[in-house]
Formats: sequence, structure tokens, C-alpha cells
Amino acid sequence: MRPASVSDYRELARRRLPRVLFDYIDGGSYAEATLAANVDDLNALTLRQRVMRDVSRLSMQTELFGQTLSMPVVLAPVGLSGMYARRGETQAARAAKAAGVPFSLSTVGVCTIEEVAAAAGTAPWFQLYMIKDRGFMAQVLERASAAGCPALLFTVDLPMPGARYRDTRNGMIATNVAQKLSQAIDGLAHPGWLWDVQLNGGPHTLGNVAGAAAELRTITDFWAWIGRNFDPSVTWDDIAWVRERWKGPIILKGVLDVEDAAEAVARGVDGIVVSNHGGRQLDGVASGIAALPRIAEAVGDRLTILMDGGVRSGLDVLKALASGAQACLIGRAWAWSLGARGEAGVGHMLQILRGELRMAMALTGCTDVRAAGPHLLDR
Ligand code: FNR
Repeated sequence: MRPASVSDYRELARRRLPRVLFDYIDGGSYAEATLAANVDDLNALTLRQRVMRDVSRLSMQTELFGQTLSMPVVLAPVGLSGMYARRGETQAARAAKAAGVPFSLSTVGVCTIEEVAAAAGTAPWFQLYMIKDRGFMAQVLERASAAGCPALLFTVDLPMPGARYRDTRNGMIATNVAQKLSQAIDGLAHPGWLWDVQLNGGPHTLGNVAGAAAELRTITDFWAWIGRNFDPSVTWDDIAWVRERWKGPIILKGVLDVEDAAEAVARGVDGIVVSNHGGRQLDGVASGIAALPRIAEAVGDRLTILMDGGVRSGLDVLKALASGAQACLIGRAWAWSLGARGEAGVGHMLQILRGELRMAMALTGCTDVRAAGPHLLDR
């Protein structure tokens, strides 16, 4: 199949990846209602079609935290990407660099900050979870700043991991013997992936975390470490601790409530990502796009607002901008493309988004993404 859309890349990833990995990317928590709402609420928003407005010159360029982006899109932090393609984070980071958009590296990525920075020729945005072991956190922050990471995404919506039924059934988190056997058989049924990733893509550790404890060898060891080390006692006061150790922009990822957004302003962070973690945490909360306008209205003039959740096309990107975001993060869109076709897949998917955004701008009469606003929406 010649992929024409993000959903085509999803289908290609479904064919190429073992089920345990495809479901890990694709799934959400509990009944997956919020995951569905992220997509459905974007689809339900209607753009205004405008005509005769000279759209021969369209500018998609935007500025975020002193960086120029060729379009208002950022690759979201996605854990374990080195399992979807060989050294997956490096491939996606190169595709992002070529497209002129930032790549974010997850704390729980396979490749280290240094490996990604060297492969892409530019340092990624770095994503951090609040970990109980503050010595470890301080070390990682130091490494991210030494590597030149231009921004810190501080993810705050995971004081504990949401239950994802697909991962439990497939043995993603803790595997019993039967699940191990079925994973092995499934691996053999996906020889392209087996050769590219399993046999030639190692080491398969979580590179940024590996230094935290010598006994961490397998992905299962790492899940156990994460379970023990994510810090549910974190409060707004902890931002000061991060600020002391991180001099660049701090962007809180996972804000969904107006009162929390106001608190983020009061604590002096530089930006927020309006996000429900792609419907992977608390099922039943609002979609990103539903929460965005009220947050933008309350604090949009006081910090940078990004959003994510359900963005599957350039049309969705314009809808997010029209609803108050300065840019969107995309998660599954790039994870699927990476799983399907590696760096080339991510690069092509970004071209698709750009083409779709261009079309949406032309037909809404929006000639500059920085001027997108509620006037583009049909209410
Ligand atoms: C994520 N997300 C995520 N977020 C984060 O801060 N750190 C992480 O390690 C991960 N890991 C992760 C793995 C996978 C497989 C997915 C799909 C998502 C959440 C991610 O950054 C983003 O918020 C959502 O993916 C956005 O929703 P869409 O674009 O996937 O619908």
C-alpha cells in the first residue's frame, strides 16, 4: 500500500509490528473513551470555508521558545520508540530535523539523549517524569542541559500509570510464560521487525534510565523500576526544585484544567501542553481539544499553550490553532509511521501533515498560522 494519510501508516504499523507493540502504541486506558474523544471531538469541529482571499502565499512558520519551526508541530515524547524501528528515536529525530520541527525524547526512550543528539545533529527537547530518586533526576537534567536540549517537557499527568487493558492481556508490563511464548511466536510472524529491531537494533535498554541501577537489564526490569520510582507525592512546590536545575524553558505536559493552568502561570513555567496523555491515563476526562479553548481564554496571553491528543491530520493542526494552541504535539502519528517505515515513514508522514495544513489554510483563508484563531471555526 502507498500510504496517503496517518491512518494508512497506522495500518502499515499494525501489519509490521508484533501485536504487543502495536497495541502498546495504539491503545488507551480502561474503556478507551477519552482516547476516542480526542479523535472524535477534533472531527466534530467544523472549519469555515472562505473563498477569494489570495492564498497564493501561505506561511506555516512559527516561533516556540526562541526556536523557529517550519510548521506548528512537535513530535511528542513516546516511550520505547527504539522497539518500533532500529534505534527508533534517532530515526525519528533525523526526520524531524529534516522537516524543521522539534523532536522530544522520552525519559523512557531506548536511545540516550547523547545518541539522539549525535545522530540528528541537534539536541532533542527532553521529557522528564518526576522520579522519587532526586539524585537521578538531577543527573538526567544535567545531561540534558550539557547536550544542549532546548526545552524541558515536564510530564505531570503520570503520578501513577493508568491501567491499559491491552497491555495487561498482551503481557506488555509483566509477562507470564504463556504470554512470553505467544510473544516469541508473534515475533517470528513479523520477520521484517524481528531482523531490523530485535536482532540488529539492540541494546534494548531504556538508555536514559540505565544508569539509575545496575540490575536493570530487560524492559520488564525497567517497568518494575518505573513503578517503584514514579513519585505520586509531587506538588506544585517541586517546580522550584526543577527550576533550580534547569535554566531553559520548562513546559508542563498534562494540564487539562483551568485552575491548574492558572497555577502553572503562578509558578512561572514557560508553557503548558493541554493533554490527557493521549487517553492513556484517566479515562473519562475531557479531550485535549475540548479543554483547550477555556484554558487558552484564561491564560493564553501569559504562557505558551501547546495541545495534543488525537491529532491525525493537518486539518486537526489548524483546528487546534484555531482553538487557542500555538502548536500541537503528535504522538501516535509518528510512532505508527516509524513502526511502518522508519525514518522515511516519519519524514513522509510530516510531508502529508504539511500538505494537509496548507490545504486547510488555503480554504479557510488563513495565510499565516500565527494569525489562526476562533474566527476560523464555524460555531
Ligand atoms: C506516549 N506519551 C508519553 N508522554 C510522555 O510524556 N512520556 C512518555 O514516555 C510517553 N510515552 C508514550 C508512549 C506511547 C506509545 C504513546 C502513544 C504516548 C504521550 C504522548 O507524549 C502524547 O501526549 C500523546 O501521544 C498525544 O496523543 P496522540 O497524538 O497519540 O493521539
